[in-house]
Amino acid sequence: MRMYDIIEKKKRGGVLSREEIAWMIQGFVRGEIPDYQMSAMLMAIYFQGMEDGEITDLTLEMAHSGDMVDLSTIKGVKVDKHSTGGVGDKTTLIAGPLAAACGVKVAKMSGRGLGHTGGTVDKLESIPGFRTEIGREEFFQIVEDHGIAVIGQSGNLVPADKKLYALRDVTATVDSIPLIASSIMSKKLAAGSDGIVLDVKTGSGAFMKDPASSRALAEKMVAIGRQAGKRCCALITNMDVPLGHAVGNALEMREAIETLMGRGPADLVRVSTELAALMVWLGDIDGRSEGNAGQRDAGLDRAREQVMEALSTGAGLKVLADMVKAQGGDPQCVREPDRLAIGQERLEVKAPSDGFMGHMDTEAVGIASVLLGAGRNCKEDALDYGAGIVLKKKYGEAVRAGETIAVLYASEKERLAPAAEKFLSACTVQRERPNEEPLIYELVR
Ligand code: URA
Repeated sequence: MRMYDIIEKKKRGGVLSREEIAWMIQGFVRGEIPDYQMSAMLMAIYFQGMEDGEITDLTLEMAHSGDMVDLSTIKGVKVDKHSTGGVGDKTTLIAGPLAAACGVKVAKMSGRGLGHTGGTVDKLESIPGFRTEIGREEFFQIVEDHGIAVIGQSGNLVPADKKLYALRDVTATVDSIPLIASSIMSKKLAAGSDGIVLDVKTGSGAFMKDPASSRALAEKMVAIGRQAGKRCCALITNMDVPLGHAVGNALEMREAIETLMGRGPADLVRVSTELAALMVWLGDIDGRSEGNAGQRDAGLDRAREQVMEALSTGAGLKVLADMVKAQGGDPQCVREPDRLAIGQERLEVKAPSDGFMGHMDTEAVGIASVLLGAGRNCKEDALDYGAGIVLKKKYGEAVRAGETIAVLYASEKERLAPAAEKFLSACTVQRERPNEEPLIYELVR
């Protein structure tokens, strides 16, 4: 086979065979297919799409490109959670500890920031000393001891995705249903959990901009999960505005901790607790995701109550503090989140006129945070953990001209002005109060 011919076939809208997909993925992982040819293939897939069978073949080939983790030695039901990516999306840092506090085991392998979106691993690494690259045995032990551990996609886990993810990030080929579905599900299948809760984001800050394409992505991923014998569901949630107020690694870590302390913004609390409840429900501690529709709904309500209790008693916060300590991080940061280092250079962005905060181009907000240093422009870029944005006014809130709508943080002063310009271009202030938008669209089971 020749890569040239496979690119040509996909460019013309052909359907790749299982053999072609296997040859291409294996060759890419071995370094025999260069980045420039794979980039062309990614762009061809982006424009031509893939049929369901191709997506499943691609997902399975990617999942088997490295180790398949066997979590069976960890007692209890293991449930994973994954977001399709958003701006200010720190739900894993809240939902994971809450679910673990309710008895579910969370052995989580997370990603880094991609494009305009942040990544859980980068956020955790803003805690001094926190290690996201730890060996398998230690990882399992932390999950056994504390119910949760979060590590990077390390070692030989889905090397195909590691290479593809980095390439997509810099070739504008992220927002493609086949590429997102195969990327996420290959990691979830290789990571070995019994259940998978997917948070499929929709809106201007998501890779999928409208509820219909988000639903299509959700259905595709749930179907792949089911085919592979996993319990799987997807929640479609709003990403038309950043979730919570903070965007940027240390800022988001701080907001996640404050949320577990019971002081979180309402939207973040709602989405995070619902995801945690789904994790507990899929964890099926007492058969609550089985039975008829009424029994399943009652099981989900019980899971919600349990999660709210873990939030109000501080049980979730304790789990996070224990995990941070076990992974080498400074647990004092969890007790006093203001200890996390935030960029010293600051700029307040002011409202240009009186009115109400209207539609926000949330992807542009994510790009503004990248301009501040919170994300990467190319795969080798180092991050500035303290860089980011704190929104002071969100969608639907009244503002006066000259009032602060956001504060930008960076380590380098010269980054502030271009980011402020980008941020302001993302905001609209309108005369009328805008209509409310749903925060949670639907659950795809
Ligand atoms: N998250 C992933 O893990 N992969 C994608 O392609 C997009 C979001």
